Amino acid sequence: MKKSNLLLICLLIMIIITLFSQLGFAEGNSDRCKRCHDEIKENWEESTHEARGIDCLSCHQTNMKVQQPKEQLCISCHSADSKQTKEKTRMPQQEMVKGTGGFGIKESAPSLMYASGVACIDCHMPKEHDHIFEIDTNEDEPVACISCHTGFQLNDMQRQIDRWQKETNNLMKKVEKLLKEKKVLRNRKLYQRAEFNYKFIKQDGSEGVHNPEYTQELLEVTYQMLKKL
Ligand code: HEC
Ligand code: HEC
Ligand code: HEC
Ligand code: HEC
Ligand code: HEC
Repeated sequence: MKKSNLLLICLLIMIIITLFSQLGFAEGNSDRCKRCHDEIKENWEESTHEARGIDCLSCHQTNMKVQQPKEQLCISCHSADSKQTKEKTRMPQQEMVKGTGGFGIKESAPSLMYASGVACIDCHMPKEHDHIFEIDTNEDEPVACISCHTGFQLNDMQRQIDRWQKETNNLMKKVEKLLKEKKVLRNRKLYQRAEFNYKFIKQDGSEGVHNPEYTQELLEVTYQMLKKL
């Protein structure tokens, strides 16, 4: 092959590479997605995910589809033994909606909504465009709920959430008080199990919403455990 031909080919390859990287195809990170999807980028920037380095490609594949089916995507990280995040934070939301993982209740007790097939994104991402993932109770409409509960008003949603959270928080306070009182017994197995249950509910973060009945039952059981000590 002539030297000039070889040079020409090299030059061509270089031009192609430059062109592709201009378009963003050669980049191995999420920056290229943000260049075109700037509205979603801004939305995502308000999320805890952004703060924790969970980027577009943590959830999307390079072919733009989400990496897993919708039912799996969130719980691949939001589960007690997830190894997908470098975070030390435990995020046992999967266990909570399924009603497993706490000490003292043998049967699993999935929430009514989970058992009916309601997935994380049904509430946390009511509009596909929405990339904040937090439940916005300040919206004009209870968007997190009305896709299924038609006729729900914003007040209904807030009242329902408040009721669940209030019941949970009252019981949490009672358990917390006993945990403090009996701290000298912290080496006992029963104490550790009670403390585990308490933390499990804290780490879930929904204050009972993810599985109201299971949360309350677990807290009753936990309270009795501590009473017994
Ligand atoms: C060159 C611009 C460009 C880049 C770069 C880009 N997109 Fe897109 N994307 C678009 C356009 C245009 C559409 C179609 C219109 C729309 O839905 O906004 C689209 C659609 C999508 C859709 C919806 C697909 C569907 O079937 O409904 C997803 C999801 C998506 N992009 C994710 C990504 C991700 C993730 C990245 C980074 C890996 C990315 N995009 C990079 C321009 C781009
Ligand atoms: C925590 C997971 C997660 C992260 C992080 C994430 N997405 Fe998504 N994204 C989703 C899910 C889930 C959907 C809905 C997919 C579906 O319904 O098939 C979606 C949908 C989309 C769509 C289509 C929605 C529409 O309006 O047409 C685009 C475009 C998109 N994402 C771009 C991005 C970009 C750009 C980033 C980074 C700034 C990003 N996503 C980060 C989970 C995520
Ligand atoms: C790649 C792993 C990963 C995936 C996938 C993921 N998350 Fe997250 N998510 C995290 C991490 C890490 C945090 C930060 C937790 C912390 O620091 O408390 C977080 C935080 C959150 C928060 C805010 C919690 C807070 O304390 O502010 C919500 C809500 C949330 N995620 C919902 C979702 C939903 C809904 C999905 C599915 C669309 C999803 N996440 C998918 C890793 C992930
Ligand atoms: C029925 C609707 C619904 C479903 C389904 C649901 N959540 Fe939630 N989630 C909520 C509500 C409501 C809150 C409480 C929000 C608040 O108090 O601000 C919450 C709280 C959270 C939090 C804590 C947010 C924070 O700011 O600390 C995380 C993380 C979370 N959910 C993730 C998930 C994951 C992962 C799934 C699926 C396993 C899921 N959620 C399923 C409604 C739902
Ligand atoms: C994807 C659909 C869907 C979404 C989104 C959804 N729900 Fe539900 N919800 C259901 C289904 C299905 C049931 C079970 C219905 C039954 O068996 O009667 C249910 C049951 C309920 C119940 C009665 C059972 C119980 O656990 O006490 C309440 C209350 C409720 N939902 C409130 C809410 C609230 C508040 C939101 C928003 C934060 C919400 N739902 C979001 C589908 C949904």
